[in-house]
Amino acid sequence: MRVIVVKDQDALGKASADLVESVMKTKAHFALGLATGTTPIPLYKELIRRNKEEELDFSTTITFNLDEYVGLEPTHDQSYRYFMNAQLFDHININKKCTHVPNGIAQDIEVECLAYEEMMEDVGGVDLQVLGIGSNGHIGFNEPGTSLASRTHMTDLTESTIKDNSRLFDKIDDVPTKAVTMGIGTVLDAENVVLLANGANKAAAVKAAIEGPVSALCPASSLQLHPSTTFVVTEDCASELTVLTEKM
Ligand code: GLP
Repeated sequence: MRVIVVKDQDALGKASADLVESVMKTKAHFALGLATGTTPIPLYKELIRRNKEEELDFSTTITFNLDEYVGLEPTHDQSYRYFMNAQLFDHININKKCTHVPNGIAQDIEVECLAYEEMMEDVGGVDLQVLGIGSNGHIGFNEPGTSLASRTHMTDLTESTIKDNSRLFDKIDDVPTKAVTMGIGTVLDAENVVLLANGANKAAAVKAAIEGPVSALCPASSLQLHPSTTFVVTEDCASELTVLTEKM
């Protein structure tokens, strides 16, 4: 596991874009796993900049997002499909048909979950998965206690996640209570994983993920078992780490 400590959000965007670009350049058809939340926004800004100014080409990239709220239409401004279009897909030369976000309004969510797994398998798996982390250590919407072997599934959100995410909704009652998410096992199948974390409120979760025991109680700690994982964290977020880290 590599841990890169960066000064601020701009540096986080650049360091993580470098990691994405370095894997992208080795693949004729790049399968990129994506995350929502505020943390990856600097990465998406930097990818857009490189697309416009440095001709970083997304025409053969296929994407798979980690998760989606159950019950929100893709046009709802808090749906993850809406977020991805607004923050990335609308600004780069990607074929929208090659961008996948789980369908949170599918009639049969179980069938949707199986189909999502199959789509990833059909392209030979995800080459690089981008992750954020919840303040309770969740990845995607895999809340504490989720099986480390889990696959794409529907899940209940914990009270702490509903509270954390309510800042983006008008009121807490508007936050969906369920989501579809890739499982932890699904995430661990990606060839490379890059986890981004920013802010002092994530310091405890980052410490538990990197230096704590591997445990379903901290889903991000499962990445200790992954052969190619890089954490890119801002200085304030790395404040509780005691192991050797790279500074950029
Ligand atoms: C949501 C998403 C996660 C994300 C987390 C953190 O719960 N499902 O994938 O990592 O939010 O969001 P933020 O980066 O805004 O702190």
